[in-house]
Amino acid sequence: MTTTRHSEAALEETMDTLNAPQASVHPTLRRIVLTGFMGSGKTTLGRLIAERLDWTFLDLDHYIESRTGISVPDIFALHGESHFRRLESTALVSALGKNNTVIALGGGTPEILTNRLLLEQTPGTATIFLDAPFPVLFDRCVLQGISRPVLADPALAERRFAQRQPLYRALAHHTIDTSTLEAHGAVEAMVAALAAAPKRTR
Ligand code: S3P
Repeated sequence: MTTTRHSEAALEETMDTLNAPQASVHPTLRRIVLTGFMGSGKTTLGRLIAERLDWTFLDLDHYIESRTGISVPDIFALHGESHFRRLESTALVSALGKNNTVIALGGGTPEILTNRLLLEQTPGTATIFLDAPFPVLFDRCVLQGISRPVLADPALAERRFAQRQPLYRALAHHTIDTSTLEAHGAVEAMVAALAAAPKRTR
């Protein structure tokens, strides 16, 4: 019962977001990049904010899958992670060439220096870090049945989470805590933050 009520509330929040009047962001902004660990909401919130702005949504993993015709887990299994990272960097270059686009990165995209430099140096690009503690993210992935090669070993996944946190933070123009906000609240917080010109706070 609790689960049903919770799902209904989540659905209502999503409908509110979709029905809200179209928002606008700072006029110099061309793309919004969502970063964060697996389960942080990059794809879900990316779709919602793209809808809210009437922009295109691009999920980097899906982009790689559609270009290669192979699923991300199969790329890891057949060719290894370093091959996947090369495909990911190439996909990121293409994605950052697009305008009026919300881009959901993979959780590991910021591990690669080239990717970080691309993200920092592409003008008109605002990066939002979707933050939440590791146990919340891990539970979300389990509950949602998200299976990723990087999650196979929970202890290793937690170490990678810890190593990535400073990278996510350093890239971010804005940070949204997705452990406390529902989808609607998170999208509205992003819209409010994006009214300003992208400027890193570090
Ligand atoms: C990865 C996260 C995945 C995907 C791949 C590797 C990672 O993306 O890119 O399985 O290293 O954290 P999501 O964060 O969208 O699940």
